[in-house]
Amino acid sequence: MRVMVVGGAGYIGSHMCKMLAEHGHDVVVCDNLSTGHAEALHWGRLVHCRLSDSVTLDQVFSAARFDAVMHFAADSIVSDSVADPLRYYRNNVAETIALLEVMRRHDVNNFIFSSTAAVFGEPTQTLIDESHPVQPINPYGKSKVMVEQILGDVVATGVLRAVALRYFNAAGADPSGLIGESHNPETHLIPRILRKATGEALDFGVFGEDYPTADGTCVRDFVHVSDLCSAHLLALEFLGHNAGFHTFNLGNGQGYSVRQVLDATQQVIGRKMTVPVYAKRKGDPARLVASSEKAYNIMGWAPLYPDIHDIIESAWKWHLSPRY
Ligand SMILES: NC(=O)c1ccc[n+]([C@@H]2O[C@H](COP(=O)([O-])OP(=O)(O)OC[C@H]3O[C@@H](n4cnc5c(N)ncnc54)[C@H](O)[C@@H]3O)[C@@H](O)[C@H]2O)c1
Repeated sequence: MRVMVVGGAGYIGSHMCKMLAEHGHDVVVCDNLSTGHAEALHWGRLVHCRLSDSVTLDQVFSAARFDAVMHFAADSIVSDSVADPLRYYRNNVAETIALLEVMRRHDVNNFIFSSTAAVFGEPTQTLIDESHPVQPINPYGKSKVMVEQILGDVVATGVLRAVALRYFNAAGADPSGLIGESHNPETHLIPRILRKATGEALDFGVFGEDYPTADGTCVRDFVHVSDLCSAHLLALEFLGHNAGFHTFNLGNGQGYSVRQVLDATQQVIGRKMTVPVYAKRKGDPARLVASSEKAYNIMGWAPLYPDIHDIIESAWKWHLSPRY
């Protein structure tokens, strides 16, 4: 198949490009490099533009027929979305509408969207499945819900089939060490610990030790980036024989506490780290863990790298010699 990977120069998108190429698909990337890296692109041609550049995208869609679009492009820092909601609604919602319009003009009808656990807001059940109420508590989560709703409406007109994959915490890196997670600023737990471990002057601490969890620290669901990408391949296949709009939650199958992640990191890197404990942050739920039973039952998806040590090991390999 020929697949357009939008946001393919970013963390998850670049891993997707590699996996698609390894499975024999043709890859074209559309990315404005706002948070992505040209150096992450070894698989597929880069079209350097934003999604609302309809002149460039019309040319690209006229030159080649795409079987599907995978849409990873977004701004995704929750605190930034609170500080500047208009930027988030423009980049995450308005730019996606522009992309869907280009697809409609060129009769491209398969769409896989990177959604997020942030659509659920405060959890009301221990394992978050697709029936959990969608109640986002920040503009980032709301922007993703808006796109999901838009997709539902467009799909209802009969011109599109779409899957929204709601990732929990993407983590880890490709085993090759060629590509990995490189955000600036980095807000994610595992790369922050590892960057601290490589000697970067970065303030890292545990936020709160008195949550109602086994060791008092927050529990999160870390899912390996390659497992997220394999879910996209399955979603591509699924769209081939299923019309409609479908949502799937993608998590590891078990949660790990911040303390467990720290302990596992120390085992992987082979030394102790001194980590301060700070006050709890407002709005951090004690536990956020997915049920991915629907993805398992319907698409046959199961993570290959559920062990936190394997996830951290792959990320550590990348952090020891990051290329961008
Ligand atoms: N990383 C996670 O843990 C996580 C969890 C849940 C959901 N998600 C979602 O997954 C997707 C990918 O996340 P990531 O961590 O790889 O992010 P990233 O920032 O590394 O990648 C996003 C890519 O999109 C590009 N981009 C952004 N806006 C664009 C635009 N208007 N036009 C063209 N390109 C644009 C950026 O340059 C970048 O290459 C995002 O949609 C994010 O919301 C990520």
